[in-house]
Amino acid sequence: MPIKKATILEFAPTADEIWNLDRNEIDGYADYNIEKGLVSILDTAHDAKPRPEILAVYAGGKATNVARIIDRLLDNKSNIEIELVTFLPPPQGVLCKLSPIKINGMEIVPSTPAGIYVQALQISDLINVKPRFEIIEELQGTSGIQATRRCIEMIIKDTGATINFSPRIIWTQKTVYNVLDKLEKVISDTDMLILAGAPPIWKSNDDRSITPQDFYAEILNIVPSKCDVSIDTRGYYLHKCLFSKKLPTFIFMNKNEFLEVSGSWKNVNKGNFFGTIIVHNKEGCWVWDKNIPNIDNLFSGSVFYPSPKVEKVYSTIGAGDAMHAGFLKEWIYSENDKNRLTRSIIYSQAVSAVSVSNEKATHGIDKFIVRQVFEKNYHQNY
Ligand SMILES: Nc1ncnc2c1ncn2[C@@H]1O[C@H](COP(=O)(O)OP(=O)(O)O)[C@@H](O)[C@H]1O
Ligand SMILES: [Mg+2]
Repeated sequence: MPIKKATILEFAPTADEIWNLDRNEIDGYADYNIEKGLVSILDTAHDAKPRPEILAVYAGGKATNVARIIDRLLDNKSNIEIELVTFLPPPQGVLCKLSPIKINGMEIVPSTPAGIYVQALQISDLINVKPRFEIIEELQGTSGIQATRRCIEMIIKDTGATINFSPRIIWTQKTVYNVLDKLEKVISDTDMLILAGAPPIWKSNDDRSITPQDFYAEILNIVPSKCDVSIDTRGYYLHKCLFSKKLPTFIFMNKNEFLEVSGSWKNVNKGNFFGTIIVHNKEGCWVWDKNIPNIDNLFSGSVFYPSPKVEKVYSTIGAGDAMHAGFLKEWIYSENDKNRLTRSIIYSQAVSAVSVSNEKATHGIDKFIVRQVFEKNYHQNY
């Protein structure tokens, strides 16, 4: 089936910031213990006020990262529609009077101030991928709900250490049903659905209600039968997806995540799996194509693809998202290639290698450099 439309779902809309904090007894961090991973920051009772330098502000969230990286890898003219769908809270007070703002064929929709901010950040970063914003009435800003967030990556200057503040998105049980309802329409005409990151959290009302652990499996239960699904999430959220009505087509996990859920493959569809599992770490990828890991000898049925050599690693932030995005980009655009899977894996490795080997991480991914790394690796070996 040719892919005409791909849909990436963002349930955890984020404004990401990167801060650089220098050492200073009053304006910065006071001490850093490398062995214990402890940073000391003095509080205001000690007349201190850290003054970090803001290095970057951009739209975040795992799915948004994947969308942003795919966008960087695409040529300007694409006949395949790639959509990033983000779920946002409704406006309140005077903001209810705001009309949607049309811009470049997209639409910023009325939401909370934070919801509007996230939309503006997304729109500024995407050229080929089309952002689409869906308001969920049940995300009203009542207490206990956290519909959008700001994540801070704080670099402890000159130490090579970072601290990351990532609040969770918090929904209610009603939000979940609201989102699933909306999703049925959103994904009805898509050929490839992309799920990345952990879903939001919420308290389940009773034993029969959907839990965060079930959420992705519930989505798989409503995807159109012809639609492929690619998923990159921890085993905890993946497990039920292996037993849903539709199984994922592509499963991405790093090696640690894979080892954590090594028993998950038991009884999957009576041993019939028609998708592809891609397990990765910095050494390379282990790939099971139309085949599931044997839980008694985990890696025995996989094909190993070594990573391209990286001279110097600058930043591994988002390297896994780079890998997922790279794979999807090449897969979507190489439909008629007889080595489609191998190409897509080698390309995904080229994207994450380029991502880790530049200071701006995923923001520094250059599609021409990726192409060079890919060509070298692909033609030398395949
Ligand atoms: N030095 C490296 N060389 C090549 N690839 C790397 C390197 N460091 C990281 N990667 C790639 O990035 C991936 C990181 O993915 P993951 O651990 O899932 O992180 P995250 O999802 O948090 O970005 C690794 O599994 C590997 O594929
Ligand atoms: Mg990952």
